[in-house]
Amino acid sequence: MKLAVVGGGSTYTPELIDGFARLRGELPLSEIALVDPDERRLATVGGMARRMLARAGHPATLTTTTRVEDGVAGAAAVLLQLRVGGQAARNVDETLPLECGCVGQETTGAGGLAKALRTVPVVLDIAGKVRAHAPGAWIVDFTNPVGIVTRALLDAGHRAIGLCNVAIGFQRRFAALLGVAPERIALGHVGLNHLTWERSVLLDGVDVLPRLLDEHGEGIAEALGLPVGLVRHLRAVPSYYLRYFYEHDRVVAEQRTSPSRAAEVAAMESALLEMYADPAVDTKPDLLDKRGGAFYSEAAVALVASLMGDRGDVQVVNTRNNGTLPFLDDDAVIEVPAAVGAAGAVPLPVDPVEPLYRGLIAHVSAYESLALEAALHGGEDRVRDALLAHPLVGQASLADDLAVRLVEANRAFLPWA
Ligand code: G6P
Ligand code: MN
Ligand code: MN
Repeated sequence: MKLAVVGGGSTYTPELIDGFARLRGELPLSEIALVDPDERRLATVGGMARRMLARAGHPATLTTTTRVEDGVAGAAAVLLQLRVGGQAARNVDETLPLECGCVGQETTGAGGLAKALRTVPVVLDIAGKVRAHAPGAWIVDFTNPVGIVTRALLDAGHRAIGLCNVAIGFQRRFAALLGVAPERIALGHVGLNHLTWERSVLLDGVDVLPRLLDEHGEGIAEALGLPVGLVRHLRAVPSYYLRYFYEHDRVVAEQRTSPSRAAEVAAMESALLEMYADPAVDTKPDLLDKRGGAFYSEAAVALVASLMGDRGDVQVVNTRNNGTLPFLDDDAVIEVPAAVGAAGAVPLPVDPVEPLYRGLIAHVSAYESLALEAALHGGEDRVRDALLAHPLVGQASLADDLAVRLVEANRAFLPWA
């Protein structure tokens, strides 16, 4: 089968290729097409990918193209991992909100809204080309903000599933702490993309979360940047994105005096591209592990393999709510364990969600629907509404101010501005 990667010039691509090579028994690929508007990156990353495949003895051909139509033609699955505006635009997402006292983050708060505004039109354009040139192909969206982008794709009638590596990261870390194979761990993962809690950790069907928190609470909390008292009190493990809510002001103070993540990543990207350009390098560099995408390739291979092979196994994905969380709209996109087969993802039933989490989930889900409205139809008023609805903004004068600044800073990427 053919798989296309849009945003294939990303420095993350060798992470994916490494997974395709290691897990080739699970996902037999005959062609991998890298699609990217940046020809230089395509040549560098494409060369690296070819060397990695050759070293692994993987039979797939690797093609590169700047034309989405050509890259996706005949593909069974299309992976979206693009970043509109690159690290430079991300840097604005991470710094502009700080000027107003709000967290600067590429998927959370005002920065996440800016990213959605830039990204949704581009992704929908690509999806239209997938529909025309690879009818029936599955679109797997790793492009952030995953919840909003996935909802945009589903609302437009595309066959899409959203993917994030937060859940698989917890599964692997908990398995390592317990000294067991990751496949034996099933997470009680609930919420929206980048707004989730692990309410249970089943080892062979038995909840070991209380034990994990008793024995490893400090380490788990420290990795999340959250107080251990909070994590033990919740008896649940929030994702590290909850730090932007639970510790908002502290994060803002830290961000004001440290370089942005975008700046760090930009430096890593230059170093990585230099390595990829070296004809002697044919394995994934250790430096790539410093990016946030750990286990992204495992998650992507598992998801595509289950869609193609109708496996029906359970994976954490972003898909339509359809009543799973009764306090949200049916067409909201949620991130929960789901059975994945040829017909897509069907969420497993979820235990009633405690008010402690339910309110925040509902609040952010409502914001996401307004963010999508703004991304689809444009207009500073819609941007302001989305900001007003966001729990980390919420105040009228802040929303006014941020709306103006956000639109101004992203004008080049907004078709309507
Ligand atoms: C995690 C998140 C991704 C995000 C990434 C950022 O993997 O799940 O959604 O894109 O971190 O990593 P970076 O290295 O770019 O900061
Ligand atoms: Mn993610
Ligand atoms: Mn314009």
